[in-house]
Amino acid sequence: MTLHIIIGAQWGDEGKGRIVDHYAARAQVTARFNGGDNAGHTVTVGERIFKLHLIPSGIIHPHVTAVMGNGMVVNPRTLLEEMDSLMAAGVPVSPQRLRISHAAHLITPAHQALDKAQEAARGKGNIGTTGRGIGPAYTDKSARRGLRMGDMLAGDFRERIADHIEDANRTLAMLDAPILDPGPVCDEYRKYSEFLKDHIADISVELDGALKAGKTILAEGAQGSLLDIDFGTYPFVTSSNTVAPGALTGLGLGLDAARQARVTGVVKAFQTRVGSGPFPTELGGDLALRLRGSGSNPWDEYGATTGRPRRVGWLDGVLLRYSARINGLSELVITKLDILSGLESLRICTAYRRDKKHFIDLPFGPADLAPYEPVYEELPGWEEDVSGVRRWKDLPKAAKHYIEQIAKLAGVPVKLVSVGPERKQVLEI
Ligand code: IMP
Repeated sequence: MTLHIIIGAQWGDEGKGRIVDHYAARAQVTARFNGGDNAGHTVTVGERIFKLHLIPSGIIHPHVTAVMGNGMVVNPRTLLEEMDSLMAAGVPVSPQRLRISHAAHLITPAHQALDKAQEAARGKGNIGTTGRGIGPAYTDKSARRGLRMGDMLAGDFRERIADHIEDANRTLAMLDAPILDPGPVCDEYRKYSEFLKDHIADISVELDGALKAGKTILAEGAQGSLLDIDFGTYPFVTSSNTVAPGALTGLGLGLDAARQARVTGVVKAFQTRVGSGPFPTELGGDLALRLRGSGSNPWDEYGATTGRPRRVGWLDGVLLRYSARINGLSELVITKLDILSGLESLRICTAYRRDKKHFIDLPFGPADLAPYEPVYEELPGWEEDVSGVRRWKDLPKAAKHYIEQIAKLAGVPVKLVSVGPERKQVLEI
């Protein structure tokens, strides 16, 4: 039995979608364990580009069963749109192929309205959320008043939705935000329950059965480790556990499953972040524009969900080392190496400095990074276009050195490098 967990080792957008797609060829099940449609996983197959927000990207492989775990928050409207667009592209999404945990929480228009109203109330100190209602849905879960996928099967689902909207309206009114009419939301959600009822299951039992039958489960993390609710740059984080151990609680798997787990951390060759919060190695000016791209390609640094330009910077080795520890990484995958071609020299942050002291570990995690200044190691760049390279030995010497330095800083070996958005643009090490 194998549980293969794939997580983002930075602030999300590391290119997990295409890495999951790569490994899904050898898995029987792919499962999402956290987050909702704040995520955006892009997979390029030939001329076709799939942008998935909720459904595990492994579904694109015909032999794979896709599972949405109890750790997720699900907006059924997005889900049905995604199912439709997959089916239109010839990817079947039957109840046998897409299983949804009865214990995953529902996102409603009230959660989205609350997200926006709360962000507006935060003013300058806003988190820069995706506005998808993620925080309010997880708030309801923790406050034990949330609606779950299993509620869709209950006879009084309509009343439950109505109560939830009335409840949210009281908070919206306090925030001076427009309130919602419960009627249309109830009708809409009743309709969704008809479409989704056959997909809802106890996925914990099904996944346990799959492992016992010797199948490989690919657990697909959303967002990145530095956005984790406990271990990220709090409060500029998302509201779920994005780190690898979240795969267990977010899928209903016991520690048995973890014993032989393989944990892959996906790391972009440079650092990016979308939304507010600390970013010690952030770059501005021409170099930032160069790393971000113009936005004309889907893989340029613009949010897959919101379209916002991403902040960009040098790779942060201190945060990567931290990420390797809290995730228990067994290997790294480096993405977007091709973007660095043509830069004369590169920098990696190898330590932080504060009051003339150097730190390679952070005293209290990454929450308060403001007092630290990055210490850089300068590395030679390479001129060659690496997008056609398929073997480690064909990479320019400077590119190999750059990757080796990343592995050394993280204390974890690099197993795969991607040099372009296409399925075949990867090299195994
Ligand atoms: P929320 O998850 O919408 O509440 O947003 C909280 C923070 O996480 C914001 O800074 C978002 O930009 C960031 N965020 C949420 N989802 C993603 C993602 O999939 N990739 C990158 N950043 C994300």
